[in-house]
Amino acid sequence: MTDIISGNIYDYPRYYDLVFGSDWQAEYKFLNACFAKYLKSQDHLRLFEPACGTGRLLYRLAQAGHEVSGLDLNERAVAFCNQRLEKHGFPPSAYVADMSDFTVKKKVNAAFNTINSFRHLLTQRAAVKHMRCVAAALKKGGIYILGLHLTPTAGEITNHEDWSAGRGHLRVNTSMTTTSRDLATREERCAMVFDIYTPTRHQRLEDEIIFRIYTQRQLQQLLRSVPELALVGVHDFTYDIDAETTIDEHTEDVVLVLRKR
Ligand SMILES: C[S@@+](CC[C@H](N)C(=O)[O-])C[C@H]1O[C@@H](n2cnc3c(N)ncnc32)[C@H](O)[C@@H]1O
Repeated sequence: MTDIISGNIYDYPRYYDLVFGSDWQAEYKFLNACFAKYLKSQDHLRLFEPACGTGRLLYRLAQAGHEVSGLDLNERAVAFCNQRLEKHGFPPSAYVADMSDFTVKKKVNAAFNTINSFRHLLTQRAAVKHMRCVAAALKKGGIYILGLHLTPTAGEITNHEDWSAGRGHLRVNTSMTTTSRDLATREERCAMVFDIYTPTRHQRLEDEIIFRIYTQRQLQQLLRSVPELALVGVHDFTYDIDAETTIDEHTEDVVLVLRKR
């Protein structure tokens, strides 16, 4: 029998972290390659992740000798993140805050926000405020690595993705399906399902996530509204530092590297 729960997937950090945490290597390697390519120095950096969630990347960057911190709106994710940082001997440097309204105590060398977290900000005002907060948090010459899906205005569009991961007796299969895309309101609605299996139980967690839509043109418009951040590199979700790409009407995913002027 399956127990069906309607809820917020981010309220289940253990399951979130199992699925998305298993995919850390490519992003981690890419972030380090960005630090090497776009920053003057790569040693002992101060790094910040707005919308850090469970901090699957943060604690590994701390293990590499960097000073890390992050924020997230979700208290449970922040608690999970801090517990893991402490378990590995680092300060519990994640805190609860809104990524469109924050300041940092000490300016950072780099900030990063991958896998669409930024698209949780559903208005232009919140998105621009976020970009300005990030710009204010960066040292001059510091970088912001921002990964998001775009909505292509030509060609094929991907509407479904699956992930799966297991540890010990726990397995979590995840699927995300776009159920609607409203270009006028700029809202993309996605059905998110976590199927959670233990030897004795199958639970299904169902959620709906709303993302703000960015077409190529809308992304360019956003970047123009934050002139303090200059676009210095465009990559994509293949996380290949040597493959720089250009954005056109077919582009479905980008990882931007923005530098504080
Ligand atoms: C896709 S998860 C990414 C988490 C983490 N960055 C990672 O890579 O695993 C998106 C995160 O954004 C957080 N979030 C959504 N809206 C937010 C907001 N306005 N301010 C801060 N965090 C927010 C959610 O709580 C969730 O943890």
